[in-house]
Amino acid sequence: MANHIEPVTKYSRPAKWLHWSIAILLLATFIFGVLLDNSTSDSLKFLLIKFHAPLGVAVGILILVRTYFAFTHPRPAPDLNWSPLIKWTSKIIHILLYVLPLVLVISGLGIMAFSGLSNQLISGQIEIWPALNQLGPRQSHGLISKLLLLALALHIAGAIYHQFIVKDNLLARMK
Ligand code: HEM
Ligand code: HEM
Repeated sequence: MANHIEPVTKYSRPAKWLHWSIAILLLATFIFGVLLDNSTSDSLKFLLIKFHAPLGVAVGILILVRTYFAFTHPRPAPDLNWSPLIKWTSKIIHILLYVLPLVLVISGLGIMAFSGLSNQLISGQIEIWPALNQLGPRQSHGLISKLLLLALALHIAGAIYHQFIVKDNLLARMK
């Protein structure tokens, strides 16, 4: 008797939970990052980094767990009606949404280590925020956060386009 394998039409439950938890935590990390960058008070900066850094690390850990699920759980295939351009653009953006936050975690940890911020936080000497602008990891962190914002905007625009213009209910795969 032929063995019929049902095609996968939705992401697995853990993949969905991870997707939405990462989305919320990433948004919070981003907002704390922007507040951190724009704040002029050193004491406020030291307060904000205590939220921004652990949230960012949590995002990094969840993305690693999600990468494991992406390789071990079947995922829905791209719709046959999608053009190769749409298929490849969404694939590249999905890969960037995995990779860019991980690079931000690495550059974030680099800022902490090379500026002495982590030593300051450990020893409790948190009066003067160090100058970070000339630091390589700080410059990459700023640039990559902007690239991530662009990738996120394209991802969300794609979801809205599918939902309201193509009307193929793509969102149901992730609900
Ligand atoms: C309002 C916000 C968001 C909406 C509406 C949304 C919607 C979706 C939908 C519908 C899919 C399935 C696409 C498909 O089956 O081809 C998807 C996949 C994906 N989303 Fe989002 N998303 C949002 C936010 C985010 C955020 C913040 C991230 C950041 C990490 C993200 C990362 C991903 C990734 C990596 C995939 C591909 C999953 C995989 O193949 O493993 N999404 N999203
Ligand atoms: C997904 C993870 C992360 C995201 C999305 C993120 C996002 C951001 C953003 C948007 C900024 C402002 C950049 C600018 O406008 O130039 C920022 C700054 C910063 N982030 Fe992150 N970040 C992440 C992870 C981390 C981690 C893990 C750390 C530390 C361990 C960290 C440490 C910092 C520091 C020290 C600043 C500089 C603040 C300043 O110059 O005053 N970030 N981050």
